[in-house]
Amino acid sequence: MARLSQQLVDRARDTIALYPHPRSALIPLLHMAQEQDGWVTSDAMEHIAELLDLTPAEVRGTASFYDMLFLEPVGKYLVSICTNIACLLNGGYELLEHAEEKLDIKAGATTADGKFTIEEVECIALCGQAPCLAVNWRFFGKVTGEGFDHLVDELAAGRLENDIPPHGTLCRVRRAVGLLGSAQATEAASDVAPVQEAPEAGIAQPDQKVEAESGESKPSSQGATEDAASDAAKLESPPGGPSAPREKGEG
Ligand code: FES
Repeated sequence: MARLSQQLVDRARDTIALYPHPRSALIPLLHMAQEQDGWVTSDAMEHIAELLDLTPAEVRGTASFYDMLFLEPVGKYLVSICTNIACLLNGGYELLEHAEEKLDIKAGATTADGKFTIEEVECIALCGQAPCLAVNWRFFGKVTGEGFDHLVDELAAGRLENDIPPHGTLCRVRRAVGLLGSAQATEAASDVAPVQEAPEAGIAQPDQKVEAESGESKPSSQGATEDAASDAAKLESPPGGPSAPREKGEG
């Protein structure tokens, strides 16, 4: 049951400063907590409530609404197997039964070593590659029983760690544009921003902070796109999986 680490608190404060209202950063902060522990602990929710000046009940109310946020422990690898119509017609239930047999657990359970959780899910938007599954939201299509076994063996042996990070890690691209350390942000805001008109005193607009630091104006999405493109080049398909992991929506 962990509160957020100091490093995450710093990241959280930078993220909160991006929004006109601190509570708007709630979901990003919940994802940070889930990245830290693999799931969202009660202590983390209380800590987030403190950071956002909310009640723990408000944080829990939001966290419990979303499927991608887990309020109880899950395995290092969350295996989400689709049994919706396209996958059902192409062997989705057979794949689910095979997975249950291979990992010796039922859907909804976690293996004794804490490595794998199986869940049955609705359409994951890769219907053209049915039957499909996702591991920690990295997508695999046309999965056969043999391919599933190979994927699980590779994951268990730690050979796919560069391609599929532990559960909770949505993205390894860190936003840089628009983010400054909290102290710098406050200083930059007092230099250039009419902060007295902002709903939250001391919080400047992201673009203003960038201008103050670099002296140049740049669309806030441009740098993030460049960072994402450069990181995407590093994310290659895992060797030997049933098929290359795919981004959601490619089906
Ligand atoms: S029905 Fe399985 S991905 Fe759409």
